[in-house]
Amino acid sequence: MTAAIAQPFYITTPIYYVNDVPHIGHAYTTIAADVLARYGRLQGHDVFFLTGVDEHGQKVQQAAEKAGVPPQQYCDRLAPQFRNLWKTLGISNDAFIRTTDPQHQAIVQRFLQQLHDKGLIYRDQYSGWYCTFDERFWTEKDVVEGLCPDCKRPVERLTESNYFFKMSRYQRRLVEHIHAHPDFIEPRTRRNEVLGFLQKTLEDLSISRPKSRLSWGIELPFDREYVTYVWFDALVNYISALDYLTRTPSFDRYWPATVHLVGKDILTTHAVYWSTILMALDLPLPRTIFAHGWWTVNGEKMSKSRGNVVDPFAATAKVGTDAFRYFVLREVPFGQDGDFSHETFIGRINSDLANGLGNLLSRTLTLIERSSGGAVPQSSPSQESDQEQALQAMGLEVLHCALPRHLSPHTLEFNRALEAIWSFIQLANQYIDKTAPWTLVKKPDLRPRLDTVLYHAAETLRILALALYPFMPRAAEEIAAQVGLRLDFTSPLLAEKVRWGGLAPGTHVAKGTSLFPRVDEGVFAEGARQVSDLQSTRPTGPSAPSAHSGGNQPITIEDFQKIQLKTAKIVSAERVPRSEKLITLQVDLGGESRQVVAGIGKKYEPEALVGRTIVLVANLKPAKLMGVESQGMVLAAGEKDVVELVTLSDDVPPGIKVK
Ligand code: ME8
Ligand code: MG
Repeated sequence: MTAAIAQPFYITTPIYYVNDVPHIGHAYTTIAADVLARYGRLQGHDVFFLTGVDEHGQKVQQAAEKAGVPPQQYCDRLAPQFRNLWKTLGISNDAFIRTTDPQHQAIVQRFLQQLHDKGLIYRDQYSGWYCTFDERFWTEKDVVEGLCPDCKRPVERLTESNYFFKMSRYQRRLVEHIHAHPDFIEPRTRRNEVLGFLQKTLEDLSISRPKSRLSWGIELPFDREYVTYVWFDALVNYISALDYLTRTPSFDRYWPATVHLVGKDILTTHAVYWSTILMALDLPLPRTIFAHGWWTVNGEKMSKSRGNVVDPFAATAKVGTDAFRYFVLREVPFGQDGDFSHETFIGRINSDLANGLGNLLSRTLTLIERSSGGAVPQSSPSQESDQEQALQAMGLEVLHCALPRHLSPHTLEFNRALEAIWSFIQLANQYIDKTAPWTLVKKPDLRPRLDTVLYHAAETLRILALALYPFMPRAAEEIAAQVGLRLDFTSPLLAEKVRWGGLAPGTHVAKGTSLFPRVDEGVFAEGARQVSDLQSTRPTGPSAPSAHSGGNQPITIEDFQKIQLKTAKIVSAERVPRSEKLITLQVDLGGESRQVVAGIGKKYEPEALVGRTIVLVANLKPAKLMGVESQGMVLAAGEKDVVELVTLSDDVPPGIKVK
């Protein structure tokens, strides 16, 4: 594979609002994009994978006000949480855009000026029903009983002079484009929704907000009394990033985007607003906009007030990154809505990962270690039967047919790709059951047959590592390492047709720890035990210095040195459901992530904690508080009630020793 024939492959996620910490919904889109990006790179494409954050507009301004800090400072605090989560989830984005980047802002202004110069932006008086939450006007007929038709919050009557983009004039062209490009909006049901929407008269789009009402935005280049409507600002990120976040300006290389991944909530803004803006700028439209479905939790909408927001930091801390990535893409077809429950989550991990994949790896390697001294034996063609044929056919079918079919940017059937891989895993487990290598071991004359079986089982693992890598990069690397392969997953391993038999006989396997340990049902149990006092559930052994020793007994320096104190940066904070005292903190210990439950909820709002550098007792035995695991303890002043959290200045890096 040479660079010359590498196809450009530009893939984006929405840029998420920094008005709150990221949750499973944001993780979902980003994981999907990552799978596509990794798969694209394995195929030898020249991938550019962009994600980032949307930092302007009313929502962010309000969140900053609530937190009591200037908006820029608020954004600077929240943006790292997204960056951090992507690191935790193994996201391989090539760039991370922030809409407060000066280069982005300059490009937004340039585009606005161009449209203005072309006479495509005009000023007008507008009167309508305004929804603050959705930051948009609705017409009389949209509003139902004084409520926003979208979010069902009360709307208010507003009359305002604003700048409008002549969106309406592109209506016909857009409809034609959708008809002429069947892959433009996916899946098909969403395409029909957009076409349905376009049957009504398309109105012009207000692209400004008067500063008197909203000041946190990009100033209009032609009127300093206004800022840019946040959606105009945000959508431009897909192009501005190609100017300053690639090694050299790369618009010509990567535009039009291969695929914009979005949730169904923001399909109209992409399919209609963005498309017409691009038409007005005389730029080509993206090849595909793919709108996926919506996650609920136990059948309910996720919301802070319900306290049911699924925190990806906490979920991965418990079951690992790859299990989480696997679950979200396996459980629900990408275009459809899905429901998250701990039962199905744990069920999938135990049946598919621990029993299915984990078991296949460990039994294969154990057999090779026990009967072949740890070296992959050689297969004898004379010993091969229909069973090996079937295994080989299915493995190659997964790599050469199922993955390309289901992971093409306009199909995106992640669940079906995984189903195909798991059918192969199932077949491989059946293969081992049926060929029963443990019985072959006993008869020396069956040695060639045994070697043949073990070779094919090991080769299955190599094929699996390749197929799994886009979905579960760490597991794939671990499988490859345990089979003794040196696979460089950053190179285009799938650019050329993979053949069966690539594993060299004699390769030394190195069985390691269990890939996916079973998860016990209680791991997510919440509220199982009420905790009135933080200390009461702490394990106290004879060797642990007692927290209740009264504080009068002198201790030696050695006693003190048993306690490992480290600086830690709070990455996210969230109340433990049904507890007024407990807050779950995700902290960065200098590369290492920890989850800590702290009894500081009466004193602090979670939002106020994010970004602080604190001191953590880093070697405390983990304990569960109201069902939530805590891997450490924070230092705070106070007797019964917390008076203040010990906090260091922002210059102190996380993960260093406190003594
Ligand atoms: O809309 N289920 O940002 P946002 C599935 N800044 N996906 C979900 C989800 C859920 N429950 N909740 C969120 C914005 N998402 C704008 C985008 S783009 C130029 C500007 C995911 O923070 C999904 O991808 O509200 C959805 O489209 C996105 O987060 C919305 O993120
Ligand atoms: Mg939203």
